[in-house]
Amino acid sequence: MDVSRREFVTFCAAVGAALALPARVVAEALASPDKPAIIPLSFQACGGNSPSFKSALDLFAQAKGPTIALVEGSIPTKPSYCLVDGRPALDVAREVCGSAVATIALGNCASFGGLAAAHPNPTGAVGVAEAVPHAQNVINLPGCPANPENVTAVIVHYLTFGRWPDLDAQRRPLFAYGKLIHDACDRRAHYDAGQYVEQWGDDGHRAGYCLYKLGCKGPVTSHNCPNVRWNGGTSWTVAAGHPCLGCAEAKFWDAHSPFYEHLPGGVHASVDTIGAGAAGLVAAGVAVRGVVNAVRRMKAKDDADRD
Ligand code: SF4
Ligand code: F3S
Repeated sequence: MDVSRREFVTFCAAVGAALALPARVVAEALASPDKPAIIPLSFQACGGNSPSFKSALDLFAQAKGPTIALVEGSIPTKPSYCLVDGRPALDVAREVCGSAVATIALGNCASFGGLAAAHPNPTGAVGVAEAVPHAQNVINLPGCPANPENVTAVIVHYLTFGRWPDLDAQRRPLFAYGKLIHDACDRRAHYDAGQYVEQWGDDGHRAGYCLYKLGCKGPVTSHNCPNVRWNGGTSWTVAAGHPCLGCAEAKFWDAHSPFYEHLPGGVHASVDTIGAGAAGLVAAGVAVRGVVNAVRRMKAKDDADRD
């Protein structure tokens, strides 16, 4: 790989930001002689994750350590779809992932079946964990695609701490999926103030208002997009003016469509009434902030009346 020192240091800093580690520690981990060897597998995929794992492949090209599988694409469980050298993808996945010390599922398709698994799921598409139940240490990095810094961060975590990162109930690393997008969003102050974009390109859109009414799923989606961002930290979906579609969540193609309609139940009511625990925390946070703001306004009014 032809990478300048500056690019390498910048990349290490971004990976370190995801893990809350200094760039120096990341660089040391990537220089380790015990780096795992990577076997890339691509099944029913658009190819969008390939750039996300290219940096990991390049960095681990000469590695001789234990083998990990890096998978993009969903795995069809119905016969005759996605043959690999004449073999069903399911057989290949079971052989390779079943003997690896860990499998990293890149993107929503490899994690949960993604677009191919959306209704009516003609190929019987599933993610790796479901296709290869005996695979060890399956780590899901859903997104559309997976974030490249998070891909490398998972391996750096293993090299630095000697264990794979802690996961949530969807097998997603907590360091990257432990927080709602809504809670770190650049536009959150506008959400709290009730300032929403009503139509594409309106004055609120130009002013950077909240995209909730255009269908933003940030209140029910956990991912570190607002912090790690994309394209070397350049920007991210919401900062670019587009609502989050929730691509880091299981079954988002079915569960979050129509994409450009807001969550059911009205603007604030929807967030307040969604049953998921994470969304409940959002609602609680909004409620507390609302009370604090109201108290502040009352105090300011009292002070003004006294003056
Ligand atoms: Fe940001 Fe979307 Fe939440 Fe609005 S609804 S604050 S745009 S994450
Ligand atoms: Fe996906 Fe939303 Fe991030 S659409 S890339 S989880 S901002």
